[in-house]
Amino acid sequence: MKPIVLLVTAPVLFLLACQPSAENQSNDLTSAPKDSTAAVAHGQYLVNTIGCNDCHTPKIFGPNGMQLDQNLLLSGHQSGAALPAYDTVTSKSWILMYQHFTAFVGPWGTSFAGNLTPDPSGIGSWSEEQFRKALREGKFKGMDNTRPLLPPMPWENFAQLTDADIHDMFMYLKSIKPVYNVVPNPIPPVGTAQ
Ligand code: HEC
Repeated sequence: MKPIVLLVTAPVLFLLACQPSAENQSNDLTSAPKDSTAAVAHGQYLVNTIGCNDCHTPKIFGPNGMQLDQNLLLSGHQSGAALPAYDTVTSKSWILMYQHFTAFVGPWGTSFAGNLTPDPSGIGSWSEEQFRKALREGKFKGMDNTRPLLPPMPWENFAQLTDADIHDMFMYLKSIKPVYNVVPNPIPPVGTAQ
């Protein structure tokens, strides 16, 4: 009988060895329950590493090159920033980016990265449900009856984030400095009715 007992117990022992330890589980940032400080910290980590600042934060151009403008962190394309003229023929086949990486011209027209700060002109009045819908379904203001979000907002990628990650990112965004900035509406492509 001994070989049979060994045959049965060996896979069980192997499976047990594969179980994550209690310590590993508590380090699992995506699923462990967190207090609000830990949620904000994890949300900040996600927002910074996923690259929301690339498009949603204006830049400063100084001796160290292009840096994030910390005073305007995540406040989107600035309402006062007049866009320079561009070549409308080239823009039919190329995608153009404003130097702050906050406005984009392409076949869809001109789009402007939104204000993600907790100011009323940003996401101050948004519920978490709205934020989730914006990232999961690509809906402007995260509401059902609004237009789809325009490129290059890569919401299809963010749609794959877990609810817990989206929650933490929302908590972080609600914790940052509010910046008043009413982002311009998108402009339809050249040659179409305004
Ligand atoms: C490659 C550029 C780019 C990146 C990276 C990016 N966004 Fe955006 N985002 C945009 C643009 C452009 C818009 C405006 C689209 C429109 O007006 O239809 C936008 C819009 C949004 C909106 C909707 C705002 C509103 O008022 O409805 C939310 C929410 C948002 N982004 C969140 C994020 C988050 C969170 C991240 C990082 C996880 C992120 N974005 C990364 C370009 C980007």
